[in-house]
Amino acid sequence: MTLKRVGILTGGGDCSGLNAVIRAVTRAAIIQHGAKVVGIEGGFEGLISGQTQELTTRTTKDILTLGGTILGTTNKGNPFEYRTRTEDGTIQVHDYSDKAVETFHKLKLDCLFVVGGEGTLEIGYEFFKKGIPVIGIPKTIDNDLEKTDYTFGFQTAVQVACDAIDRLQTTGRSHDRVMILEVMGRNAGWIALEAGIAGGAHIILIPEIEYQIENVIRKIALRKKGGSPFSIIMVAEGAKEKGRGTIKAQEAGQRLQGVEKLGGVGFYLARQIEKQIDLEVRTTVLGHIQRGGSPNAFDRVLGTRLGSFAVHSAAQKRFGTMVSLQTPDIVLVDLKDLAGKVRTVSLNSQLIRCAESIGINMGREAM
Ligand code: F6P
Repeated sequence: MTLKRVGILTGGGDCSGLNAVIRAVTRAAIIQHGAKVVGIEGGFEGLISGQTQELTTRTTKDILTLGGTILGTTNKGNPFEYRTRTEDGTIQVHDYSDKAVETFHKLKLDCLFVVGGEGTLEIGYEFFKKGIPVIGIPKTIDNDLEKTDYTFGFQTAVQVACDAIDRLQTTGRSHDRVMILEVMGRNAGWIALEAGIAGGAHIILIPEIEYQIENVIRKIALRKKGGSPFSIIMVAEGAKEKGRGTIKAQEAGQRLQGVEKLGGVGFYLARQIEKQIDLEVRTTVLGHIQRGGSPNAFDRVLGTRLGSFAVHSAAQKRFGTMVSLQTPDIVLVDLKDLAGKVRTVSLNSQLIRCAESIGINMGREAM
């Protein structure tokens, strides 16, 4: 099939590489099919409001290396469950999905490319069930999507976290301090684990393994006794303490929609450590620095491959799917197999075994 008009939106939290995907979709659709490309603005919000922009090779020419998304995004605004708060504080839930379907048809699109993580792709799948020809493109710094080796944005985030750890190594060693780096990862510890290994962390705490503070202290004490009073701890924001669960030290407030705000486990951990050992502890929270900025070469290539293959798959009418990296190829997987699933680090993974085999403490008794 020759594509005449294609639409693309970016949903959920942003990450590096989104613009690389937008550029690749635009260029492949125009160069291969002479198609018009419609950029839907602000995630699914744009499908409700009808706010769009035309994407051309000219408007996308300088965006390969640009962080963020030129289309804008949101991790709120699910059209199937759109929440608003009235003046008296009551929450109202609206279903705007028919309105979104209407906009899609008004725009006369042959297909919709939905670039997002688990939440966005799940909404994409709901629209596919309502008759919209959807193809998903997997993004998230968390790397927690099923059926793909990597999501784009992840490798850049790992590099940012690794650079941060390299800097904490030198200042921590100079002052004989315990340095904690808190990184993102609400359900999955991929960033913490990979960046922790890459940066030579001594302790890595991830949501998949409930940590016990005694084990953390034991490792620090052992290092101190061996003549290295400084230690580097990498902790994922979703880390859980045994018997207490996720540590939410940040003032969260009540959220109308979107993901729950995490952050603050690094400060909690610092207080726990300081109480038990005579060493100074400092915490750095890397936060959204991991999401902003230019994608690294890996994410530029991956984003470009995913975008190009998504256009190719649309021409084959392979809708209800997601383009995915199954090294060395880009393949299609069914969206229905992904809906609502989060890929965490398996406790039997080689990565965890590798970390523990070289003496990294994962907050549990060494296996
Ligand atoms: O899902 C990606 C992610 O970066 C999480 O790791 C993090 O908890 C969340 O987004 C933060 O979202 P927000 O931008 O709403 O603070």
